[in-house]
Amino acid sequence: MSSLLRIDSSPRGAGSHSKFIADTIQKQLVINTADIKICQRDLSLQEIPSISQATITGFFTPKENFTSELVKATLLSDQLIKEVKSADTILISAPIYNFGVPSSLKAWIDQIVRVSETFSFNETGFSGLVRGKKAILALSYGAQGYVGNGDLSSMNFFEPYLVALLKFIGIEDIAVFRLEGTSILDEEGLSKQKYALQTQIKNSLEVN
Ligand SMILES: Cc1cc2nc3c(=O)[nH]c(=O)nc-3n(C[C@H](O)[C@H](O)[C@H](O)COP(=O)(O)O)c2cc1C
Repeated sequence: MSSLLRIDSSPRGAGSHSKFIADTIQKQLVINTADIKICQRDLSLQEIPSISQATITGFFTPKENFTSELVKATLLSDQLIKEVKSADTILISAPIYNFGVPSSLKAWIDQIVRVSETFSFNETGFSGLVRGKKAILALSYGAQGYVGNGDLSSMNFFEPYLVALLKFIGIEDIAVFRLEGTSILDEEGLSKQKYALQTQIKNSLEVN
């Protein structure tokens, strides 16, 4: 059995473009492997709290010195990291918000990027501890020009950030699927893009 962890971050429901991409990817993964266990978190429905002072103290305190307050303050981080470590594939869907990631996704990131759990460091530098996994990003942009040498590429603190962050925790196998121009394309233009993306997802994720 393989396992998929799916993290959605758009607060939008059925009309969400990033969730549409993630749904298409998930369908293909289920076609590939019928025996797949799926753990799903919609961050707009199950809000992740920002980390507190006690959470930070807990992150840097050896477990043997934990007080009950520190146990409580790091419990959610423990659970979210367990979900990451149990997954073979991590699928993250997100819209670009103000050139970066939505705050709900940032709150999840702040809980799972944790010293000695998902990364370590010593005098020679940092090492990711989340090894042997694949990550798939399902990203939507309202405007066009963020990718490649586009006009807005210098304002893209979204996709390069997510890719760098996943690599930082040790995930090197990363696939990105994206829709651009969701706020400016008309219905026909958007349908064309969605159709092309569905084909791209099938071609790149299909197992022969
Ligand atoms: C608060 C907010 C901030 C946004 N910021 C950007 C932005 O910086 N750049 C951009 O291209 N689109 C921006 N958008 C547009 C969304 O990224 C775009 O509509 C996206 O496709 C929405 O994805 P969803 O349908 O999955 O929610 C923003 C939308 C909202 C609501």
